[in-house]
Amino acid sequence: MAKIITIGSVNMDLVLRSKRSPIPGETIKAENFYTNPGGKGANQAVAIAKLGGESVFLARTGDDGYGSELKTALKKYGVDTQCVKETENCCSGIAVITVTDDGENSIIIAGGANDKLCRQDVDDIEDQIESADAVMMQLEVPIETIKRAIQIAKKHNKLTVLDPTPVPISDLPDELFEVDIFSPNKSETESITGITIKNDNDIKKACDYLLAKGVKQVVMKLGGQGALIVNSSGETRHIEARKVKAVDTTAAGDCFTAAMTLRYVETGSMEKAVKFACAAGALTVTAKGAQQSIPYLKDAEEFLKNKEE
Ligand code: RIB
Repeated sequence: MAKIITIGSVNMDLVLRSKRSPIPGETIKAENFYTNPGGKGANQAVAIAKLGGESVFLARTGDDGYGSELKTALKKYGVDTQCVKETENCCSGIAVITVTDDGENSIIIAGGANDKLCRQDVDDIEDQIESADAVMMQLEVPIETIKRAIQIAKKHNKLTVLDPTPVPISDLPDELFEVDIFSPNKSETESITGITIKNDNDIKKACDYLLAKGVKQVVMKLGGQGALIVNSSGETRHIEARKVKAVDTTAAGDCFTAAMTLRYVETGSMEKAVKFACAAGALTVTAKGAQQSIPYLKDAEEFLKNKEE
């Protein structure tokens, strides 16, 4: 079984469902409110477990009530939580999410214990990294921690995957580009490269920028339009997504990156990996919530098979 280490955030999602998002200065009434476990790191770790991989997660919760709830959810989905640490006198990460009727979301996070995940935490799990196939990361924890994770993963020749979200306000440090797979969405690609993407030529320019920075392969997530694979020689392949009715797009990108990483480790084929990721990501969009909307392996396989027939 492929072993993937996810290093990243875990949040309690406070979700407001409303017809539309408020404009600045406006107050509107939500139709519904609920909480559910999320966080980009945790969602990816859950996706690995639900899709059939061995999933080890390095993260920090707070010592509040949410912390134990978040850990219980991870365990329920089959994530190995021995490296999920509780931080004293600290609240857990929180995400306030608005989901509108078309399924689109907007998110504001408060890092809490995620901001305390440090380089030493990565050093402490070096033996886990050594025995893994890949290390998968995002940017809801300190950049210094991710730099260290990339360093240690590379020292042990492990596949490194970075989902560069959320994009920091300052420039991404060079070390963050030195990964095997970089999987931004379109708007993240624009923020990172400074190139506005209006057509295929802009996409090419943006990918060339990322490759020149040291990224080995770019897998650009294009939502309902599927995804684009660009390898180190600049060769491009577009994989289409199947249309689904969007209920809630939350965690679809997280599921995509995890599914792609897992299938790539299992098969060595990026084309197969991205086809599988498009199927798993699309299914995530059809259900509400974050971790609970991520499909299990059987459902993702079935959906992929039906798409290919
Ligand atoms: O990608 C979705 C996730 O982003 C949510 O679960 C929320 O916690 C934020 O981290």
